[in-house]
Amino acid sequence: MSNSGEAELLHTFKGIPFTTRSSLELLKSLDTFDAREDDVLLVSYPKSGTHWLAGVITKLYNTQVTITSPIEFGDISQLEELNKLSSKRIIPTHLDYNMLPPNFKSKKCKMIYISRNPKDTAVSMFHYYRDNPNLPTVDTWPAFFDLFLQGNVVCGSWFDHFLSWEEHEDERNILFLFYEDMKKDLPKVVKEISLFLNLSVSDNDIQDICKKSSFSEMKNDTEKENSDPNHTVCALTSNRKLIFRKGAVGDWKNYFTPKQNIRFQEIFNEKMKLSKM
Ligand code: A3P
Repeated sequence: MSNSGEAELLHTFKGIPFTTRSSLELLKSLDTFDAREDDVLLVSYPKSGTHWLAGVITKLYNTQVTITSPIEFGDISQLEELNKLSSKRIIPTHLDYNMLPPNFKSKKCKMIYISRNPKDTAVSMFHYYRDNPNLPTVDTWPAFFDLFLQGNVVCGSWFDHFLSWEEHEDERNILFLFYEDMKKDLPKVVKEISLFLNLSVSDNDIQDICKKSSFSEMKNDTEKENSDPNHTVCALTSNRKLIFRKGAVGDWKNYFTPKQNIRFQEIFNEKMKLSKM
């Protein structure tokens, strides 16, 4: 990571790197945020398919819902804006479980956690870092690979994030999803989401939602719309082309050297030894 004048792009809160677009005041106030029973949280480590899932979920509702910007993003006024919203709120977040406002937990709000093969996540995040001026510069893939394994990237360690949520996988208000399952059988996952959210959706509607949520459709749609970075799932860019890059499973094989793969696997095995994954 180059550090010339870029140090101010990131800051650390409770040991986790955040962009400075998440103000310290807002991060400190999260603990007192007032959740509503019908809030739905869309939780992910960055680059795990958050926009895809958000696209599916909004199409599932035929009532008015609002996808907000991530709860940890912005200054303190963001929380006031959220409080003022009159429609049902779908709230994205990259927070790890321990940092989540406790009110979401005590009110048993529904939460959907989407995860992805961390190797593909790393590659996706590398491109996002490289092409997004709101993130520190990374010059090469090997340099980013090291940062990712050290957890020295926005939102911290993939392993810590995943494990903090996996511990709560069996709670009835939490649904765990995998990007790879969505790629393999999207209608099945969409059905699962609709049941979890208690939405009655016909098989025809599901087919239609899947068609409209394909990578190419979503990429096309996004190129047409003029998005406001303050009201999107990823508030770090208004350049939507950065979000819809390749949409593939296994792209890591084009980046990882055999040596990097062994190192990643060793760390994965060590960190995830208590995981069911
Ligand atoms: P790639 O960079 O590997 O292409 P997030 O929304 O959490 O930031 O994740 C972004 C990743 O999800 C990107 O991965 C993006 O291409 C992929 N993605 C977005 N929409 C998708 C879709 N409809 N189908 C498949 N992948 C999608």
